[in-house]
Amino acid sequence: ESGEVGLDGFDHYMLKEIYEQPESLRNAMRGRLDDQNATAVFGGLNLTPQQLRSVERIILTGCGTSWHSALVGEYLIEELARIPVSVEYASELRYRNPPIENNTLVFGITQSGETADTLAALNETKRKGHRTLAICNVVASSIAQAADGGVYLHAGPEIGVASTKAYTSQCCVLAMLALYFGRMRHLSFEGGQRLIEELRLLPNAVQQALTCNEQVKDVAKKYASANNVLYLGRQYNFPTALEGALKLKEISYIHAEGYPAAEMKHGPIALVDDATPSVFIVPAGGTYDKVMANMEEVKARGGPVIAIASEDDPHVHQIADDVIHVPQVQQFLQPIVTVVPLQLLSYHIALIRGCDVDKPRNLAKSVTVE
Ligand code: G6P
Repeated sequence: ESGEVGLDGFDHYMLKEIYEQPESLRNAMRGRLDDQNATAVFGGLNLTPQQLRSVERIILTGCGTSWHSALVGEYLIEELARIPVSVEYASELRYRNPPIENNTLVFGITQSGETADTLAALNETKRKGHRTLAICNVVASSIAQAADGGVYLHAGPEIGVASTKAYTSQCCVLAMLALYFGRMRHLSFEGGQRLIEELRLLPNAVQQALTCNEQVKDVAKKYASANNVLYLGRQYNFPTALEGALKLKEISYIHAEGYPAAEMKHGPIALVDDATPSVFIVPAGGTYDKVMANMEEVKARGGPVIAIASEDDPHVHQIADDVIHVPQVQQFLQPIVTVVPLQLLSYHIALIRGCDVDKPRNLAKSVTVE
């Protein structure tokens, strides 16, 4: 597979794919933003507007990184479209036999389209008569074929085992779906226009976020010998914390945990000491002050703090040991920007530790067995 796709001068596929994100996001949005109606358009949902309008619940299911984008999707769809969303691990959903109401739409989210548990969860819900859709990267994959319809990511082949560009494209497609469902309901024309404007700014914001690479390298040197790392964020950036921790675990084999920042008090804070760094995702926004307060608690207990913060944040330096700035974007798109330095951090730490970044031990690109 990787034989057909070149490295284009990058040392690893993972790094190449991290840098491809401005372009993969453009590809995810191409032809899908409808200015005339201030909404999104999708060619392959295969459901009538009436069927989509009558949706009363959405289930988002997947595994690994795709499950994290489902969590972002939950925030997006509930906030922008006001449709209740449940996020399910596909491996749990397939055997849990939950009661599922009529008019529930089930999305399987998957880069490869071949993950056995996601395929089985989708087939099980489809068998019960629910409409199933795929958010998928690989065209004509098993899950794309099994679903009633879906949305392709168009991110291009992802070779690195640790998912990067597929994740940000999944989040982007979910944002467009939230816009689409929102515009079928309460979201105004002007509201839709504003969301489209924000979406259009995204590829450049991610491009700008990538300029932190050299700084992230220095931060990586400082913390590469850690045995435990905490990742903390709230709201849209709670999934970012989970994803940052997963990236570090996957490729550097450092134990890491992602938590909603406020939950730290209920356990993880017991782990804090001067050898256990915490990565706070703390961009400007609704819960900024709260996350800063959590950060102070960690500092007060001697824990080193790395902050991912907005570009013009004047306060964060006073508390955090290291600050990586990212461009400010609307809250609902922040996870797509804040994850970039975390992808790079795991990459550089893994390199320093001599790990095989593109083919980490014990992991497979797609898990096609149970
Ligand atoms: C494997 C990969 C992960 C991926 C997960 C789900 O564990 O190593 O990177 O997130 O499978 O894969 P999918 O192709 O369904 O998104």
